[in-house]
Amino acid sequence: MSNNIQEMQNVKSLREVNIKDKRVLIRVDFNVPMDSELNISDDTRIREAIPTINYCIDNGAKSIILVSHLGRPQGRSNEFSLKHILKRLERLLAKDVVFVDNLENAQVTLNTLVDGSIVLLENIRFHEGEEKNNPELSQKLASLCDIYVNDAFGTAHRKHSSTYGIANFAKEKVAGLLLKKEIDSFAIALSNPLRPLLLIVGGSKVSSKLTLLKSILDVVDKIIIGGAMSNTFLQAVGYDMKNSLIEENLLEEARNILRNAKEKGVKIYLPVDVVSTDNLKEPKEIKISPAQDIQEGLMAVDIGPATVKLFNEVIRDCETIIWNGPLGVYENQKFSRGTFSISHTIADTYSYSVIGGGDTADAVDKAGNKDGMSFTSTGGGASLELLEGAVLPAFEVLDKRV
Ligand code: ADP
Ligand code: 3PG
Ligand code: MG
Repeated sequence: MSNNIQEMQNVKSLREVNIKDKRVLIRVDFNVPMDSELNISDDTRIREAIPTINYCIDNGAKSIILVSHLGRPQGRSNEFSLKHILKRLERLLAKDVVFVDNLENAQVTLNTLVDGSIVLLENIRFHEGEEKNNPELSQKLASLCDIYVNDAFGTAHRKHSSTYGIANFAKEKVAGLLLKKEIDSFAIALSNPLRPLLLIVGGSKVSSKLTLLKSILDVVDKIIIGGAMSNTFLQAVGYDMKNSLIEENLLEEARNILRNAKEKGVKIYLPVDVVSTDNLKEPKEIKISPAQDIQEGLMAVDIGPATVKLFNEVIRDCETIIWNGPLGVYENQKFSRGTFSISHTIADTYSYSVIGGGDTADAVDKAGNKDGMSFTSTGGGASLELLEGAVLPAFEVLDKRV
């Protein structure tokens, strides 16, 4: 296993090419969460791209063109314009950035700029061709640069013009510093890791993480299952989960996973008690009970105190921990204790810890443990596909080390 990781680690990095006086196009992932007034609520992804941009400035690039998507727009709209992130980017770089809202004008604008200028292109998904990996769009983007740099780990699982097709036309195509950092950090956890290796998986949908659970059985020693994921597994072993969120059509699949895990010697830990409620938004009743004894009409929304103790013991015994998916509805403070407690324990251990998934990273941040983790990925879907054993398309098309 982890052949996919080794293959992805073999891509050429920005540090291995000469960028002096070259036009460098960097695909970044500035797809940051924003509130209803279009204020950035978490700028981590912008911050994480700064080292690559600074590296290009410091090493004398002639021009730096930044390309990103924001959200999932249907055509042009103010809501999804990247102009809303321009100020933050300029502040983080401590430099002016030229905003180009029309790709057709990009070349002309570039010709008028002094050497060392930085340009931010408008949301690339305003072009219909982007998600269709349209060759014309790919070629147009490639024509703006001498070197294509991919630093958008969050979008590395997409075969789009700016993440995939562009490589067909770019002369040199390399990984940015963030892309490298991501893959090297996952490599520590997956290629020859310190054992025991533990996967903690939670979140709301079993279906979205089923492939992961199947493929990871060959890699990990232990798996903790929590969140709504565990509801399906508990129902599958015969408990009545009452009003809890479960995926009825996956009960058989859940039993298969438990059986396969046993055959392979992988230990799976499920909650022994749960916090349940009648209503997520306006809870009138909140109960703690054994997982077998959920009251009629209630749904499980967090792991209970006995489970927290059990899971914490498992965590303290492991040397490498990968965590994807909150263990409860952590957005509501009343149902966040399980997730936050697990987060504190991981942060307190000396083990190597990798956090993947947008909500998991948010939960760790809200628990105050951001600095306590060894590595927090900027990718949700991308990290999931990587853990499933895939070679991510963005890596596939970059130049390889010989
Ligand atoms: P990530 O973004 O880290 O991959 P997911 O998107 O898979 O995580 O899952 C996060 C969501 O799962 C959160 O919104 C959380 O409220 C929800 N969730 C966790 N546990 C439960 C539960 N027991 N019932 C309903 N929703 C849950
Ligand atoms: C993400 O937020 O997961 C990435 O930016 C990819 O966005 P997408 O799921 O809309 O392709
Ligand atoms: Mg999520």
